[in-house]
Amino acid sequence: MIVEKDFLVIGSGIAGLTFALKASQFGSVAIVSKDELDESATLYAQGGIASVMTDDDSFELHANDTIESGRGLCREDVVRIICREGPSYVRELIDLGVKFTRRGEDYHLSREGGHSRDRILHANDLTGREIERAMLEAIDRKPNITVFPHHMLVDFITLGRLDSKVEPGTSKDEALGAYILDVNTKHVKTFLSKVTLLASGGAGKVYLYTSNPDTATGDGIAAAYRAGTKIANMEFIQFHPTCLYHPEAKSFLISETIRGEGGILRLKNGHTFMENYHPLGCLAPRDVVARAIDHEMKKSGDDCVYLDITHIEGYRIRERFPNIYQTCLQFGFDMVKKPIPVVPAAHYTCGGVLVDLNGQTNIRHLFASGEVCYSGLHGANRLASNSLLEGLVLSNRAVSKASLLLRSESFSNTIPHNIPSWDCGSAVDSDESVVVSHNWDEIRRIMWNYVGIVRSDKRLRRAERRIQLLLDEIKEYYWKFTITKNTLELRNIALTAHIIIMSALQRKESRGLHFTLDYPKIDSNWKKDTVLQDNSYRLANQTPLRTTYHE
Ligand code: SIN
Repeated sequence: MIVEKDFLVIGSGIAGLTFALKASQFGSVAIVSKDELDESATLYAQGGIASVMTDDDSFELHANDTIESGRGLCREDVVRIICREGPSYVRELIDLGVKFTRRGEDYHLSREGGHSRDRILHANDLTGREIERAMLEAIDRKPNITVFPHHMLVDFITLGRLDSKVEPGTSKDEALGAYILDVNTKHVKTFLSKVTLLASGGAGKVYLYTSNPDTATGDGIAAAYRAGTKIANMEFIQFHPTCLYHPEAKSFLISETIRGEGGILRLKNGHTFMENYHPLGCLAPRDVVARAIDHEMKKSGDDCVYLDITHIEGYRIRERFPNIYQTCLQFGFDMVKKPIPVVPAAHYTCGGVLVDLNGQTNIRHLFASGEVCYSGLHGANRLASNSLLEGLVLSNRAVSKASLLLRSESFSNTIPHNIPSWDCGSAVDSDESVVVSHNWDEIRRIMWNYVGIVRSDKRLRRAERRIQLLLDEIKEYYWKFTITKNTLELRNIALTAHIIIMSALQRKESRGLHFTLDYPKIDSNWKKDTVLQDNSYRLANQTPLRTTYHE
């Protein structure tokens, strides 16, 4: 089956939906989402969206906080543009129907670690859900947007993969669409498009403990890497300091805004400790807090630390954090009465597909926005609540650029029709699916144990060797058996794990979220990005994939 649209959008969080809504003014749009349409990291965003909203705040202050958090690696032009353009797009969200929490006439603004002002707009502690609701309702009203839930990206279709005269990932390469698995029927469909936006989110599921939804398996990063895009700064994985410690809570996120409202981190014996690590104490940037907790847990041998907000009136907690309060209660913790047990967990992929100020990758007509990309906003450590903002601004800029492209004279307005359909070759249904869950589990443990908050060359090399073995095994499995969502996800987390390790091995210093015992200091020689591009895919005459292009 062939689906042909002007714009193909992969992912349905704030970045994908923003792009789709705006792009629909210029042409037809397909949105593919591998789960239900609203199932994305955006849905689970608690904290909110950072935006300059008051007279005592300024773009300069927001930009400075972002740059400070990014530890010398932010692209300052990108930071300034996103901080400056953010508020007007936030107002568009409000016009679209997003109801942020108010106190009287004004919006209530929270504070999170690293922010010098209260500037986080939120919808209590269910900000992402409110944004998704309003945006999906708006999508429903657009006749030229077609949605494809339960459809998953397999691989991009690019000129470089079809035409031996064009090397993948070079300036002549061009995106033509993607092979997409219909998860329910197990058929692979050919989606053809003039412009493709990748907005498939991050890769928290690469780690054993993560605040991310199950969908965060690095699909976009892995597929983009296979296609020849540049991938930057993947060593910077942000660990959120406070996720609920309970065997069944799946690292449920306890928003940093709780510390913004006065929450205090304590050890089991009740002592506070953050004042020993940073002048901002519990509101220090996230990398500092996560490392401090890790250090204290290792020192004491305790399984967790505690977040105490019992000094705030109960009614205020229940009103401001209804979702967190109820979820903790379900697991037997009443945060009004007792401190809750918390641990760090993988939360945000700061690196990703390298893009410019307009979300353009190094492959023509392939854009990326949101957590899947690296625009230079986050540098070595993302400032809290800057991610929804990045998705919003970058996707708006990407639409402007893409619409100009479409109208430019040099743009060929026809989509080539000689693209081969998916051919599954001699693959058969798997009779050993258990391999998938075993490998999956192994990868996530390796990453947690050896590529976590504190790293060393020895641990990284150990992880590299083990992941390489798994990659080889998975490759064999992938070729032999009919693909499913599970095998695609496994293939993607393995490759993403490999990319994280190779990036971490390259950076011979400690900066922001990357801390290694072998090089514990920041080194000005490393004030640069780690950029990976897979050259093996660029060799001529590759073994064909199940279609006619190489893997
Ligand atoms: C939080 O609410 O603590 C998460 C916000 C974010 O990661 O930006």
